[in-house]
Amino acid sequence: MTTQYFRVADPRDPAIETVGAILRGGGLAAIPTETVYGLAANALDDGAVKRIFAAKGRPADNPLIVHISDLSQWPALVREIPDSARRLAEAYWPGPLTIVLPRSERISDVVSGGLDTVAVRMPSHPVARAVINAAGVPLAAPSANRSGKPSPTTAQHVIDDMDGRIDCILDAGPCEVGVESTVVSLVGEKPRLLRPGGVTPEMLRRVLGEIEIDDAVLHRLAEGKTAASPGMKYKHYAPAAPVTILKGSFAQFCAYVDANKTDGTMALCFAGEEALLPVPAVAFGAEDDGAAQAAAIFSALREVDKRGAKAVFARFPQMDGVGLAVFNRLVRAAAFRVIDLGGAP
Ligand code: TXA
Ligand code: MG
Repeated sequence: MTTQYFRVADPRDPAIETVGAILRGGGLAAIPTETVYGLAANALDDGAVKRIFAAKGRPADNPLIVHISDLSQWPALVREIPDSARRLAEAYWPGPLTIVLPRSERISDVVSGGLDTVAVRMPSHPVARAVINAAGVPLAAPSANRSGKPSPTTAQHVIDDMDGRIDCILDAGPCEVGVESTVVSLVGEKPRLLRPGGVTPEMLRRVLGEIEIDDAVLHRLAEGKTAASPGMKYKHYAPAAPVTILKGSFAQFCAYVDANKTDGTMALCFAGEEALLPVPAVAFGAEDDGAAQAAAIFSALREVDKRGAKAVFARFPQMDGVGLAVFNRLVRAAAFRVIDLGGAP
């Protein structure tokens, strides 16, 4: 298959109508969102949605997020919209937040991975919204990477993973947030954070009061335990080389890397530290800037791969605000290998 490529600067670009028609016809389109690039298909067309799973190599039990551009599209997708969900949507939609509720009969087992719930999100990216409008249907869209690879934050990342496997790619430049949306479930008694993202736990608490943080956010899922969010049980975001996160000061980091480096060792460090390290390094944002770290982390993980790293040591990000999402992605890339070097952070 030849993958068509469109570059757009503006949500009124005529290419968006073309992409809308491809989606209506059952095709697959990689589209920009404010979080990461998504691989979209008509959420109401099982044949189209199955092609997403095939193109990504995604396990069939990992459900997809359904993207809408207007609140009026939501009620048809879910059984009911509780007050808490309304308030969340009012506060943070359009934006990097996904809300899980019991699904309506319009959502098939293919989209929901067999769960009786559905995840819905209204993106804020003007091009994403224009594409949903042009398609005229809600769009199922996971991140547009091959399963297990870091999520794509540029069209080039999508081309690297998906060229020849999908109908088209719509390039609108790099994604602003850089990590995938916050996923919150309103299915149980208490609201539960399933995946941290651009909408932080503090922001959720402001609207919902108390929330539970799912174990899978920070810990490896215990053997035999079912994941509330099936995506959390799969190996994720990993470069080919083993990643180890080192917790400690910059001086301790440098000393540890120097003592443990071999041929092909690389570092994932904070901006400004690159030249001070004893090995080649790729930065992922400044130490005190969680938003910059989120915007850079997936690109940095792909970059160490591209440069042929054989082992990677990474700095330990702060876990407050959007930093929780950065840590969540990095610790998965590291297969939960974290070494505490002791002393003050
Ligand atoms: O920012 C994002 O959310 C991006 C852009 C493209 O919108 N999409 C994205 O999709 O990250 P994906 O498929 O890569 O991640 C969706 C996550 C997975 O971990 C999946 O298991 C979980 O959301 N999920 C989807 N539906 C769910 C449901 N009904 N219940 C619990 N978790 C669900
Ligand atoms: Mg994904």
